[in-house]
Amino acid sequence: MKNTLFKAAIESGKILKENFEGSFNIESKDVISNLVTEIDKKSEKKIIDIIKSDFPLHNVLSEEVGAIDKDSDVKWIIDPIDGTINYAHAIPLCCISIGIEEKGEVIMGIVYNPFSGETFYAEKGKGATLNDKKITVSSENEVSKSLLVTGFPYSSDKNPTKQLDVFTKIVSSDIPIRRLGSAALDICWTACGRFDGFWEYNLNPWDVAGGYIIHEEAGGKLTNFSGKDFNLYGKEILATNGLIHEQVLELIQSV
Ligand code: IPD
Ligand code: CA
Ligand code: CA
Repeated sequence: MKNTLFKAAIESGKILKENFEGSFNIESKDVISNLVTEIDKKSEKKIIDIIKSDFPLHNVLSEEVGAIDKDSDVKWIIDPIDGTINYAHAIPLCCISIGIEEKGEVIMGIVYNPFSGETFYAEKGKGATLNDKKITVSSENEVSKSLLVTGFPYSSDKNPTKQLDVFTKIVSSDIPIRRLGSAALDICWTACGRFDGFWEYNLNPWDVAGGYIIHEEAGGKLTNFSGKDFNLYGKEILATNGLIHEQVLELIQSV
């Protein structure tokens, strides 16, 4: 499965690169700012074709086409472009994210930014890598010295007040925050120690499936906002280096 995972990411990465800054069709989905481009669909088709040709009986869950259910124990969870708004604005902060779930557990994941040439990869029990070099989370143990990252839901009716309140609380505690526009990169940049923690509301499984295992294998901690085990299909993610986890949870829970 590893070869297929890499092939799918690299081939779809070529599509993202070939069309970058070009003119392509862009449509809105449920809300006007939630975009899908022609390139998301082309990238998705390429990934699914590669998976289908190697593993025709596996399930797929992909952002634009939804679920393809073959009654298999294995599910490929795909985000063909994570960071579509960046891509549509020719901002090279976006990636392809694919996670493989087996019997309900994510066992392998890849997050590939074709513009930076960075490939994050992990396999259950085997550690996480960035371009083949082992990565680990940061060793910062004080939230006041940390750099955090977050994102915002497209739709203002999806729990915006809580997110804005948490954002305000953290900013007013003088803790710096970044917003990259790609949840998969947010998680991987936390996994490799650039950020100390990432939180977001209302993400979907395809935003986090690839990054989840990479973060876990890099020694990071993931929970929901109650401090319970992270669930791919839940709507809350807090991913940190582990050392500042309780401190960030306290900030989130204090609003
Ligand atoms: C989005 C990005 C963004 C996050 C949004 C996601 P998309 O994914 O990951 O960082 O804030 O909630 O929907 O739409 O670019 O695949
Ligand atoms: Ca996404
Ligand atoms: Ca997407």
